[in-house]
Amino acid sequence: MAIRQSWGKPRTIRKQNVVAFFLLGSTVTLQHEDQANLVDEHNKYNDIIQKDFIDVYFNLTLKTLMGLEWIQYFCPETTFVMKTDTDMFVNTIYLVDLLLQKKVTANFFTGFLKLNDSPIRNPKSKWYISKLEYPYDKYPPFCSGTGYVFSADVALKIMNVTSSVPFFKLEDVYVGLCLDKLKIPPQELHNKQTFFPVVVPFSVCKYRNIVTSHRVQPNNILLYWEAVERSENQEC
Ligand SMILES: *[C@@H]1O[C@H](CO)[C@@H](O)[C@H](O)[C@H]1NC(C)=O
Ligand SMILES: *[C@@H]1O[C@H](CO)[C@@H](O)[C@H](O)[C@H]1NC(C)=O
Repeated sequence: MAIRQSWGKPRTIRKQNVVAFFLLGSTVTLQHEDQANLVDEHNKYNDIIQKDFIDVYFNLTLKTLMGLEWIQYFCPETTFVMKTDTDMFVNTIYLVDLLLQKKVTANFFTGFLKLNDSPIRNPKSKWYISKLEYPYDKYPPFCSGTGYVFSADVALKIMNVTSSVPFFKLEDVYVGLCLDKLKIPPQELHNKQTFFPVVVPFSVCKYRNIVTSHRVQPNNILLYWEAVERSENQEC
């Protein structure tokens, strides 16, 4: 609800329509009550996309692909797509500004760049990857799954190569593997850092000039958004 009432609220920014959708799988136990509530919520807000995979962390790749598939079928007129998480503050106003300034509309992929990451081989880590899952020492360039943005053609192009890129449970790396195959290298959106995969301490001027901040509580998503919106005509 905090996202619906803040950065995810359908609005027009610099004449560009911005909308948000929520991607869901199904519960492990397939509780009918949960599903009925979800359908009610969708009927009310019309913003839920759902498919029949179990919604757990290591199915995030399936969730992301569901989103891309949805774009391909139901959103062919869009120019840009962002994939982000629910614990994120997203400054959609600044994002639209930067995308308009950038003036690229094809073969574009951006976010918090990870250009030299290696698989974590410590079995105790949440992100442990065995040599069987991924034999190489380096991942191809990718963007942190906390928030990345791409031109809509890239969604179609990724869908086009998924059948030849084997499933990999880390969603952001999987997208990187597809981009590598497509020879679309992730690039910076701006000459200053704007995507933060960590929490950025709040100040109005800081938040007006970033695209993402991570681990932001729902009440703070609302507060920060209101502060940013209210300050639009103010000097920083
Ligand atoms: C992901 O979803 C599929 C389809 O529901 C399920 O078979 C699989 O066990 C899930 N993966 C995990 C890691 O739970
Ligand atoms: C999908 O792949 C086919 C075969 O490689 C190619 O002809 C087609 O142009 C691709 N479509 C997109 C949208 O990239």
